[in-house]
Amino acid sequence: MTRKTPRDFFQPLAIGAPEPMRELPVRLERMIHFVPPHLDKVRAKVPEMAPTVDVVLANLEDAIPADAKEAARAGAVEMGSMYDWQGKGTGFWSRVNCLNSPWFQDDVSELVLKAGHQLDVIMLPKVEGPWDIHFADQYVAQLEAKAGLKRPILFHAILETAQGMALVEEIALASPRMQGISLGPADLAADRKMKTTRVGGGHPYYRVIDDPNEDGSPREGAQQDLWHYTVARMVDACRMAGINAFYGPFGDIADVEACEQQFRNAFLLGCSGTWTLHPKQIEIAKRVFSPNPDEVKFARRILEAMPDGSGVAMLDGKMQDDATWKQAKVISDLADLVAGKDPDLAKAYSDA
Ligand code: GLV
Ligand code: MG
Repeated sequence: MTRKTPRDFFQPLAIGAPEPMRELPVRLERMIHFVPPHLDKVRAKVPEMAPTVDVVLANLEDAIPADAKEAARAGAVEMGSMYDWQGKGTGFWSRVNCLNSPWFQDDVSELVLKAGHQLDVIMLPKVEGPWDIHFADQYVAQLEAKAGLKRPILFHAILETAQGMALVEEIALASPRMQGISLGPADLAADRKMKTTRVGGGHPYYRVIDDPNEDGSPREGAQQDLWHYTVARMVDACRMAGINAFYGPFGDIADVEACEQQFRNAFLLGCSGTWTLHPKQIEIAKRVFSPNPDEVKFARRILEAMPDGSGVAMLDGKMQDDATWKQAKVISDLADLVAGKDPDLAKAYSDA
């Protein structure tokens, strides 16, 4: 037998560790905002920024120089006590260094022992397979027991190697700690030997073109989405496991239009949110990952037309049935969640 029994799957992995969650907490996670915790000036703004985003993430991995890793770790621990994360409902996450790095062990132990009561999620980079999750799972359980935590810390894996991609379903199912998976387009591109030099987004050379024109005139073409397969497969793996999928970084901060389009594709395909690397991207993520008021209005008309969720109805010439009722429920439930946090959108949804 290669899997645990269903009963054992939900047993704590260390004596004294909290029981694993059976259902994920229902939370808004439209943007995971990355903060470099070693920079005093940036860290000082955390309490002011926290209420404006859904999740703040203390980044310890890539983009943090090797000689600042310890300062970043200490800054992340400090961030745990700079805001009442659990009381006020903004998620507090940290991206630790990868499992084979010299920093992983201390990153995780310092965070869990010193900030575990505030920390919601540990983001694990470069996850290759379920074995990485199992190792971290056991290690965190030991630390949770030592820290006397009552609520388990969840895991979020980044999909950024070809092997991780090939095993994404197993990663999603590896532990009840799994909260979600993000696309890591920069590392994934390198590992796959994609011929790009970008962080996320499309590429002008990745296109389809029309058949030749008889008169030899230039052929029309359209750029395609480099990430379509990856995001779609990640969404299926996550939703199968009852966890959430996320777009990752979009590196061209100045290109807000392409960023918005890429985020929107991910939202439509099923993603719950994205990473944000710059305040400009927070606004984009908020706009994209909150449902559109017109869409919410139509979804609520569907729910009203079929109060028990079954049968058939016609709305504006469009057929509605049990399946469209379920789609409408996804949008309406998300709108309720957004409305609970955002008074402007709450008004837009209730006026809709
Ligand atoms: C994120 O970590 C990426 O590699 O894109
Ligand atoms: Mg990466």
